[in-house]
Amino acid sequence: MRGIDLDIAAGRYAAVIGRSGSGKSSLLAMIGGLSRPTAGGIRIDGTDIWSLRDDALAHFRSQRIGYVFQFASLLPTLRLIDNVALPALLARRSTAVDPHGRAAELLDAVGLADHADAYPSEISAGEQRRAVIARALINDPMLLLADEPTSDLDEQTEREVMSHLLGAARRHGATLVLVTHSLALAAGAEEVVQVADGRLVP
Ligand SMILES: Nc1ncnc2c1ncn2[C@@H]1O[C@H](COP(=O)(O)OP(=O)(O)OP(=O)(O)O)[C@@H](O)[C@H]1O
Ligand SMILES: [Mg+2]
Repeated sequence: MRGIDLDIAAGRYAAVIGRSGSGKSSLLAMIGGLSRPTAGGIRIDGTDIWSLRDDALAHFRSQRIGYVFQFASLLPTLRLIDNVALPALLARRSTAVDPHGRAAELLDAVGLADHADAYPSEISAGEQRRAVIARALINDPMLLLADEPTSDLDEQTEREVMSHLLGAARRHGATLVLVTHSLALAAGAEEVVQVADGRLVP
């Protein structure tokens, strides 16, 4: 990435578009505290995330950011309910929060209540995406980062997955940054950010 100057207002829905290899996932990884930029900074809700120590950054990520990655990211040896509850268990917050109860609610919200005890290999690609959305929401993040969450899905399933994602972002008042190749999805966003060869297209 070079010369990036980007401001996304809290609560907005922004789409990131651009050709394969243009830097969309790289940009998302830097915003999400996963890939350290060699220069410059990223401020989320007033925190300059790349000035945090590693453990503080890990804590910030787990509390504030929900990720829907480009490639399958459920842990294959865990049931869906455990996959979804895991970030809450790792965050070790107050015991008043019941990670499995909350995970069950979120799976229900994305239409997967019947599959809570299934393993990832036992459900379809679209169902896996929905489970990842449920997992991304378990710690009530203020920022949702989704990298082509519907690219391998049929149109009907894409609509379902997107309605879960947008509905969840609205309900939680979260900012949503969505990487997509779909012009139709980008057209529905409040802001469109176009990346070409590591730069923003003005
Ligand atoms: N781990 C890596 N190490 C070195 N270069 C990488 C790495 N990951 C990506 N790149 C390079 O960085 C550039 C941007 O990659 P990136 O994954 O951000 O593209 P993208 O816009 O998300 O593409 P796609 O639409 O195919 O997912 C590409 O030229 C890619 O080859
Ligand atoms: Mg990518």
